[in-house]
Amino acid sequence: MDDNKSFWSRTARIYGWFTWGGKAAKGAYSETESKIAEHLSKEMNVLELAAGPGIFSGRIAENCNALEVTDFSPEMIAQARKKALPPNVTFAVADATNLRYGDDTFDAVVIANALHIMPDPARAIEEIKRVLKDGGIMIAPTFTRENIRYYLVEWLMEAFGFKTFSRWTHQTYRDFLQRQGMTVSYEAVITGHNFSISFVVCRRHQEA
Ligand SMILES: C[S@@+](CC[C@H](N)C(=O)[O-])C[C@H]1O[C@@H](n2cnc3c(N)ncnc32)[C@H](O)[C@@H]1O
Repeated sequence: MDDNKSFWSRTARIYGWFTWGGKAAKGAYSETESKIAEHLSKEMNVLELAAGPGIFSGRIAENCNALEVTDFSPEMIAQARKKALPPNVTFAVADATNLRYGDDTFDAVVIANALHIMPDPARAIEEIKRVLKDGGIMIAPTFTRENIRYYLVEWLMEAFGFKTFSRWTHQTYRDFLQRQGMTVSYEAVITGHNFSISFVVCRRHQEA
């Protein structure tokens, strides 16, 4: 197992504390969760990538037809399975950069707080575009560096082995997505908490 994957597997049991930490992240997470729900509808079949222990999965499942919860760490999926998630949820271990789903399969892909910690986020976007149906949406909130508190928290986390591969601001994150062939259809920066989250919804660029 590579170092990055083994870091996340070792973190699986304690990852929930990160959002439990009240002021540390709870506000930003609950705002993100509400925004994800607003962009879903009951007819949608949804793929959640890099779901971790499934912090957002329950709310996603309540707002769609069917949800596949995935992460590349089996330990994260084991934690997600322990949650009392609705019956429209299935689970799988899946690497976002190498998906086994067919082309044009999902109405929406949710990838939350994960693209910046992947060594090859462009590859993940290629896969997301491939598995999305025509007109499907990618909901991709991601931690970005809008305030100094983030640098402090990131520095502390890096001391414990956490790796950030893309140090984006909202604007550079948005530019990255556009370069990968995504059209941003909704964006907001969730601030006022210890973490800032760039909340972005995208569609594939239409082929000419
Ligand atoms: C910061 S956590 C985010 C978890 C959850 N989405 C959230 O917002 O709380 C990042 C997650 O990405 C997963 N991950 C990292 N690289 C991945 C990859 N290439 N494919 C799938 N999951 C990946 C890690 O195992 C970890 O669970």
